Amino acid sequence: MPANPFPPSAIAPLLLAWYGQVGRDLPWRHTRDPYCIWLSEIMLQQTTVTAVIPYYQRFLSRFPDVATLAAAPIETVIDAWAGLGYYSRARNLHAAAQRVMNEYGGTFPSSLDELTDLPGVGRSTAGAIRAIAFGQRGVILDGNVRRVLVRLFALDGDPRNPTAEKQLWMWAEELTPAERADDYAQAIMDLGATCCTPTKPTCLLCPLALHCQAFAQGRQAELPAKRTHKAVPTVLQVALLLERDGSWRVERRPLSGMLGGLWEFPTCVVAADADPASIAAALAATYGVSDLRAAGHVAHAYSHFKVDLRLYRGRVEEWGRVAEGEAEWVDAEILRSLALHGAHKKALKFIAA
Ligand code: ADE
Repeated sequence: MPANPFPPSAIAPLLLAWYGQVGRDLPWRHTRDPYCIWLSEIMLQQTTVTAVIPYYQRFLSRFPDVATLAAAPIETVIDAWAGLGYYSRARNLHAAAQRVMNEYGGTFPSSLDELTDLPGVGRSTAGAIRAIAFGQRGVILDGNVRRVLVRLFALDGDPRNPTAEKQLWMWAEELTPAERADDYAQAIMDLGATCCTPTKPTCLLCPLALHCQAFAQGRQAELPAKRTHKAVPTVLQVALLLERDGSWRVERRPLSGMLGGLWEFPTCVVAADADPASIAAALAATYGVSDLRAAGHVAHAYSHFKVDLRLYRGRVEEWGRVAEGEAEWVDAEILRSLALHGAHKKALKFIAA
């Protein structure tokens, strides 16, 4: 493990001064309302600030407080999340809102243990909420902060391995100041997002450059080390892109289970050695479709498997006989704004605009 080359207390003042000059003016930086801060932190998990801003504002006008969110049907929350991706966040958000209502009478808890006990709130998100909403010394280690610390300390190896993770949390704890932990949290996140970027970091503009071990060693481009990806199986699926008078057939997946509550084209999973065309023909027969033809394919990766999605077009003869779960015919505009899950979102490119 590299030695700590500077006193931990040297870092916060540099970051805070930098933040004062170039920190971003973001909508959630104008409030201390724990509901708004929590919402912004959940939306910002795995998603950029630019993508989040319009969603954050729209979501708040639709669900202005935790009581409204808790009382809303989960389907409306998923639909409001459409396009942001990682939909388990929407389901967790809704479940957490109900917990806050039922267990805390609508007032957000502020302790680390209570916050991390809420669905979707991990240690870093809880740290951000504690710092930003409650002015406590919350400690964060999200993706941006992880990269900053890996470079600052020139940490070798996969930063997600448990030993590295433990070391990174220790550094994150050490560097977080007792005062202004809220600004510090946002400053280090901004540094990771705008300066200490994954590729081409702008080290000459970095307030921490003089302390940065990676910069000193000229290794900022190679750190953090790339993660090694395990080989995962591929699942074959067949989907039908069915149009009737300018509308497309979509179905909502059951709420329980993988990708619960998201929309998709009529789909079936098939055995890896099956012939997709004959499976599509069987599926088409169930749905009363004729004139079946291949329309393209989509590759999509989940964490534990990949999907090879084969797409077919066809003509609908008689729709009446299919009715299970929630299903709709929607025009192309609505289709593009729907909470389709990832593979099926990619399938949209096979549908003319
Ligand atoms: N990423 C996660 N939380 C953030 C925040 N509060 N500001 C900017 N980027 C963030």
